[in-house]
Amino acid sequence: MDHFLQIYGTLPRAGPGSNELTRRAFEIMSDVPESPRILDVGCGPGMQTVELLRITSGTVVALDLIPEMITRVRARAVSAGVSDRLETLEQDMTEMVFPESSFDVVWSEGAIYFLGFEAGLKKVKDFVEPGGYVVVSEAVWLKPNPPPEVVEFWKEYPEIDTVAAKLEVIKRIGYESVGHFIFPATAWTEHYYNPMEERIAEKTAEWRGIPEAEAVLKKARNEISIFRSHSDYFSYAFFVMRN
Ligand SMILES: C[S@@+](CC[C@H](N)C(=O)[O-])C[C@H]1O[C@@H](n2cnc3c(N)ncnc32)[C@H](O)[C@@H]1O
Repeated sequence: MDHFLQIYGTLPRAGPGSNELTRRAFEIMSDVPESPRILDVGCGPGMQTVELLRITSGTVVALDLIPEMITRVRARAVSAGVSDRLETLEQDMTEMVFPESSFDVVWSEGAIYFLGFEAGLKKVKDFVEPGGYVVVSEAVWLKPNPPPEVVEFWKEYPEIDTVAAKLEVIKRIGYESVGHFIFPATAWTEHYYNPMEERIAEKTAEWRGIPEAEAVLKKARNEISIFRSHSDYFSYAFFVMRN
């Protein structure tokens, strides 16, 4: 495993979120079939995948580009006793193709941005039943005029925008927005930054003198520090929309 994956690929989640928030977003949907067919795009280590399998009697197709993530989502589903309803697909989401209306729900926590927010929502529209749902979490600004270090940090993801701007995109594509909510700070720390700090501490001595590895640690420390100092400026939000 490369150094990046040894930090980012070994955490309980690969981005902000929690089972509680996954359930809260799920509950916004009405009249989802009892055994829905769900596509989880960019499943990562699969915390939300397994939660979706627990709260429904449906099936989940969990898609991710990285083989280690596919291994982890499968292992997690086996531990939870829900692996019989899990299908995994090791695939680049830019290449995903499914027959029209294949899914009742398309889910994507912190990953639709790899396609671009608008392009991603457009792409999955064909895969969802008419009347079905698309549920995504995405980075949002909470207030204007962030300090320069925050602007610099988010340059890597220039699509971060206000909730209002994201809702405008959702409407423009032709979805009906049925709900959204902003993540609390604990959704960044509990399963993501706190375990990341532990991983950084474990690796600091071991990786000393390896420039590429030290660069990964520096970037991770900076990311955590930006969040801890400025989480009043940005967060993630869940967006629940109907096709
Ligand atoms: C920020 S993580 C979120 C993972 C998970 N949904 C979570 O919240 O813990 C993004 C995930 O998208 C995956 N990914 C990145 N680019 C991808 C692509 N082009 N196709 C499929 N998966 C991709 C990564 O491997 C990673 O697991």
